[in-house]
Amino acid sequence: MSEGTLSTKHLLGIKYITKEDIELIFSTAEKFKEVINRPIKKVPSLRDVTIANLFFENSTRTKLSFELAEKRLSADVINFSSSNSSVKKGETLLDTVNNILSMKVDLIVMRHPAPGAHFFLSKHIDAQIVNAGDGTHEHPTQALLDAYSMQEAMGNLKGKKVCIFGDIMHSRVALSNIYCLLKLGAKVRVCGPPTLIPKHIATLGVETSYNLRESLNWCDIANVLRIQLERQDIKYIPSLREYSLYYGINKKLLDSLDKKKIIMHPGPINRGIELDGDVADSEHSIILQQVENGVAVRMAVLFLLANQRGKVSE
Ligand code: CP
Repeated sequence: MSEGTLSTKHLLGIKYITKEDIELIFSTAEKFKEVINRPIKKVPSLRDVTIANLFFENSTRTKLSFELAEKRLSADVINFSSSNSSVKKGETLLDTVNNILSMKVDLIVMRHPAPGAHFFLSKHIDAQIVNAGDGTHEHPTQALLDAYSMQEAMGNLKGKKVCIFGDIMHSRVALSNIYCLLKLGAKVRVCGPPTLIPKHIATLGVETSYNLRESLNWCDIANVLRIQLERQDIKYIPSLREYSLYYGINKKLLDSLDKKKIIMHPGPINRGIELDGDVADSEHSIILQQVENGVAVRMAVLFLLANQRGKVSE
């Protein structure tokens, strides 16, 4: 299925993989996209691999997308959700994971609210780990599926202008997107209220703007993020109504721009706040293509990690 090997045992973050790794994931995802559009959408590649999906935080897209990717690859799958587990009785992360691993699990897909939880685990366990989101830090498979979808819509991303709008401060999607897009040669800007843009973001090599219209005019692609109220212990904006007035993207605004933009959103969308429904559902939007591509990209990541350990069946 794939020529080449990833440079890494785990997928902890985009920061820790190379441009060549990203390109290998994309070329492998291309082949899996063809597979999942066949009448029989399954291959036997991971029939000797057992994967545990550990979700210590809510998820719709990522959890279901990983589970489907694993099943399409014929892996054995177990699912864990912290809300109905013994974590509620005081069990530590490491005890929980070691107990699950003793059931002969090869690979862990984990979402956890603590930034660095995956890095910590990688120092203590032998199984491979895929980060499905760690607090405000990284969400590598989201960035990979975003960049893959951008490339599908616009071709090579070298020199393309991508603006990430919204709550950059609390967004793992923003950070992983920035690392990924810069590695692929795109020009990246972030735009939002000053209180929601980290002070030192420019050191990563991105531009900053507080002006929605000017940034929309600048970019080829707008990746729009929601306000992450669940991660805000103080008020960073006066109200969602005011945020929507200054930073909400609506059809009238898009129609008044010089040229057509591609609109993306990782979900979940707060319709009428960062994005109006008629934009999310318009011909500008590739939001559902992102979700479709997520399965193929995650199949590629799991396949390539298993391949690295000689666990892939022909
Ligand atoms: N994009 C994303 O991570 O969505 P979920 O939180 O639903 O997984």
